[in-house]
Amino acid sequence: MDQHEAYQWLRERLIGPVTGGAARTVATALSADLARLVNRDPPFDPWGWADRIENYRFETGYPDAIFISADGRLVGTWIMGNDYRVKSQFYGGYPATYLERVRALFRDKQRTLHLFSGHVDLEKFPGDTVDISLAAESVHTSGSRHYADDAHTLEDVPLDRYDLVLADPPYSVEDAEHYQTSMVKRNKVLVALARLPAGAHVVWLDQVLPMWRKDTFDLIGVVGIVKSTNHRFRVMNVFRRK
Ligand SMILES: C[S@@+](CC[C@H](N)C(=O)[O-])C[C@H]1O[C@@H](n2cnc3c(N)ncnc32)[C@H](O)[C@@H]1O
Repeated sequence: MDQHEAYQWLRERLIGPVTGGAARTVATALSADLARLVNRDPPFDPWGWADRIENYRFETGYPDAIFISADGRLVGTWIMGNDYRVKSQFYGGYPATYLERVRALFRDKQRTLHLFSGHVDLEKFPGDTVDISLAAESVHTSGSRHYADDAHTLEDVPLDRYDLVLADPPYSVEDAEHYQTSMVKRNKVLVALARLPAGAHVVWLDQVLPMWRKDTFDLIGVVGIVKSTNHRFRVMNVFRRK
């Protein structure tokens, strides 16, 4: 029996098909302990896509629309519907329900960084924030930390402390003009994000698949986002630090 088989064997017997909020929290902790017990390498993800999708269904109740493809990636489409509630009214703000969905997929994460944060709703998804234009106070009322920093370098941001990054850059030159910034060089941002610890996830919403170095990240998910008529399609790209 190799390490992976040992992990699966123990997991099935000790955890099984756990459901319910509190039970899931216990299962997550146990799962991480199990991974350590059988000496998995640190990048090993105690929560695979199957667990994440199960928790997404359990927490949101949205219809089945995300799946594991034959190559192990998360694929699917979220049709958000005709809901224009972007609470902040900020140009390019996350579509209603996006944060709720991503949070349910990554419920196990301990420290989140919102990159290109704009006016992200921290009640819906707590975390620290980074934005170049919003030289806000360095601490939000919620206690989260704000970094007024450039995503191309992230010099002031202690990236090794985060296990999840949500990124929502301007998608085009025209969009960037709205924020009075220059267009983002996506590949440079992903080079900066290589300072994340192994196993950290980057959930990158965009109209383009950013270029990344294959020795630093794996692309492990691609989910299409449809808002409503006359809105642009977007894609949630999910990377995992190797
Ligand atoms: C699409 S908006 C993000 C909106 C956010 N998701 C929300 O729900 O409010 C893009 C943000 O990226 C910021 N931005 C643009 N260039 C940047 C850079 N080089 N570094 C950091 N932030 C940048 C802009 O100031 C803007 O707030």
